[in-house]
Amino acid sequence: MRMKNKAGIVTAAASGMGRAGTLLLAREGASVLVVDRDAAGAARVADEITAAGGTAFAVGADLRDPAAACEIVAEATGRFGGIDFLWNHLGHPGPAAVEQLDFADFDLAVDLNIRSQLASTIAALPELRARGGGSILFTASTSGLVASAFSPVYSSVKAGVIGLVRGLAKRYAKEGIRVNAVAPGPVDTPMAREFVDRKDQPATKGLDREELVQKFGAMTAMGRAGRPEEIGYAALFLLSDEASFVTGAVLPVDGGLVA
Ligand SMILES: NC(=O)c1ccc[n+]([C@@H]2O[C@H](COP(=O)([O-])OP(=O)(O)OC[C@H]3O[C@@H](n4cnc5c(N)ncnc54)[C@H](O)[C@@H]3O)[C@@H](O)[C@H]2O)c1
Repeated sequence: MRMKNKAGIVTAAASGMGRAGTLLLAREGASVLVVDRDAAGAARVADEITAAGGTAFAVGADLRDPAAACEIVAEATGRFGGIDFLWNHLGHPGPAAVEQLDFADFDLAVDLNIRSQLASTIAALPELRARGGGSILFTASTSGLVASAFSPVYSSVKAGVIGLVRGLAKRYAKEGIRVNAVAPGPVDTPMAREFVDRKDQPATKGLDREELVQKFGAMTAMGRAGRPEEIGYAALFLLSDEASFVTGAVLPVDGGLVA
């Protein structure tokens, strides 16, 4: 088992890649705190893990509130006696608008992509240190590696996540705390659905889910969108001890998009 005797937290774990990765981590022996604003969805994931013989607990939390970060770390350490990993998967597509930008949308993108991830990290660091080290994973995006005309705001916040990951990696390396990012390309999840519904993006207006996924998938070298578990396997590697010499890395899982 690749995560035997490890315990940790996954945010935005009720759906999509977070859910897929959480199921994989648990299957490989990790005890997981399944965190999501969708409490019922988080409970379903935890139940699925428990039914398969694993260990998981669910917490419903809106991570836009920085206080929630301390609560989830306290909950995990209380349940598991400590934590070895944190996967900051929460994010948000951000607005497509530039000239018509509503700064409330900008603030939401910053809060959900960087601020909440930093808050969880700050809360988790003392606990990881207490275990003699650990692994933190951030979900960035290929949009943080190559510019996206689709949402320059999203590109900027995900590039910010990458800068944060690299800085944290260097800062905490000597304490045995590794910090990495996974950078998904287009992946078929409910978040993709959000793009199609946005009134500020003419490029996708009127497309249904299938058309949207195909349009996004066509941008990759492989010509298809990713499946949530394909990102889950990358997360599993980076969070496990198999990646013991990997820190400050940004791993594209994107069907060759950024190549
Ligand atoms: N889907 C893609 O194509 C894609 C590509 C690159 C990067 N990403 C990144 O992946 C991450 C998640 O994407 P996904 O496609 O797996 O999403 P998803 O839509 O499948 O799931 C998102 C989850 O986040 C939860 N959530 C939303 N707001 C929350 C909040 N304030 N507090 C707690 N939970 C909240 C939702 O309830 C939901 O369960 C984000 O960081 C996103 O930027 C997605």
